[in-house]
Amino acid sequence: MEKSIGKKILKVAVFISGRGTNLKSLIDFSKSKSSRIKIVLVITNNKEAKGIYFAKKNKIKFLIINYKFKNNAENIILINLKKNNINLICLAGFMKIFSKKIINNYKNRILNIHPSLLPKYKGLNTHKRVLKNKEKFTGCTVHLVNTKLDSGKIILQKKIKVLKKDNESSLAKRVLKIENLIYPEAVKKFTYSIL
Ligand code: GRF
Repeated sequence: MEKSIGKKILKVAVFISGRGTNLKSLIDFSKSKSSRIKIVLVITNNKEAKGIYFAKKNKIKFLIINYKFKNNAENIILINLKKNNINLICLAGFMKIFSKKIINNYKNRILNIHPSLLPKYKGLNTHKRVLKNKEKFTGCTVHLVNTKLDSGKIILQKKIKVLKKDNESSLAKRVLKIENLIYPEAVKKFTYSIL
């Protein structure tokens, strides 16, 4: 019998630019009983992205989009999102910023994971700035995407301690571990809230 028969399943596109550990954890989650998502498309701007491996391994369609001309790239993205009847977008280490065109087409249907306790430390180099400011805590946040960078409604956040011995790479590693845990949790929470 098919999983979640009779229940609505959201079709998801995951956007990546690099290694894809969050993509992997979303794929694993999508196979679980409590999931109401099916990942049908992976999109990347980077043909070298290691995460493409997880799409291939799981037989998920993937698209490499040339971002030389952003407007063209976004038109192609939109066509493919529509063609695949995508209901939800998950950004997972995607290093490009969507323009209003995409955001308004998928209002309140785009999630992102960010490696800080938003609203603190929006943007890049979060761990470096956290250490420089001698923060006691850091963490990660899953939030809705709106037209302001890293500023949409927070869906889920998890806090960890910054250790005295932490450097940028040890902190990034520990935060990534909890990112991989909370992204599926946040997707579950969000999908249950809208279905
Ligand atoms: C994560 O730290 C995420 O928070 C940030 O980019 C990184 C992506 O990692 N936006 P991965 O490609 O999912 O392993």
